[in-house]
Amino acid sequence: MADTRVTLGGVELKNPVIPASGTFGYGYEFARLYDINCLGALSFKGTTWEPRFGNPTPRIAECTAGLINSVGLQNPGVEKVIAEELPKLQACFGGPIIANISGFSIEQYADTAALLDKEEGVAILEINVSCPNVSHGGMSFGTQPDMAARVTAAVKEVTKKPVYIKLTPNVADIVAIAKACEEAGADGISMINTLLGMRVDLRTRRPVVANKMGGFSGPAILPVALRMVWQVYEAVRIPIIGMGGVSRAEDVIEMMLCGAAAVQVGAANLVDPFACQKIVADLPTVMEKYGIENLKDIIGGAHHG
Ligand code: FUM
Repeated sequence: MADTRVTLGGVELKNPVIPASGTFGYGYEFARLYDINCLGALSFKGTTWEPRFGNPTPRIAECTAGLINSVGLQNPGVEKVIAEELPKLQACFGGPIIANISGFSIEQYADTAALLDKEEGVAILEINVSCPNVSHGGMSFGTQPDMAARVTAAVKEVTKKPVYIKLTPNVADIVAIAKACEEAGADGISMINTLLGMRVDLRTRRPVVANKMGGFSGPAILPVALRMVWQVYEAVRIPIIGMGGVSRAEDVIEMMLCGAAAVQVGAANLVDPFACQKIVADLPTVMEKYGIENLKDIIGGAHHG
């Protein structure tokens, strides 16, 4: 029988499929559609110290094989997330919960992490230094190795939970940033966030999204994500959660062969809310088709030809 179990450091997942932050709310919204306990883990909406209303609308632009979002980290703030959203998620999900954290200063990252560190229900902290949709903070912490390292070190200081740093692809050398995070104590890397992009409306001759630019994701970016996961896997020893354009069980396997220990599914949830459920259901059949008995065995397999 196909063994789909994987581990992220010490955290056991029944399978590698994780809805990506920002595409699955706080999880309980999707529990109305299906039993989300089929998921390996769940990364909830990027949470900040203060509540955020997000960017002006329109925030979404459709593209060939993907979409651009410019949500702007809309969320109710960490205190409300802990008091209201987390209990609702825990009431319908027993698997590992990944708390995705964004910030506008190193102190905010650390303070938000310190509060979520106290939550027993949170298994992993995913530190987002890669949001392209805010004018300061966000991605600016993830484009320089020293800044990414400083955020990593500050968060590690306030938590004993595993810390994964979520990286942006909008850099010349993602390997240097991943290595800096590892050296600063990161327990793992999540990659990749969205690619900065834009669309123009031919009738208005103006950018489609109000913020002009946004993060491009969807099946079109899978080859970029695979390439970057491949490169980072060769350079670091900590686990990688791979993401970017994953929409099928075959993509999960491809991502793991490049080096991912687990895989997040993002834009696909916005196209089909049942996407993760379908990927989980398809995994054993696809594993059998390609002669895979145990998913743990294939991590980084494409490097060893
Ligand atoms: O704008 C957003 O809320 C998206 C965040 C991200 O891509 O990290």
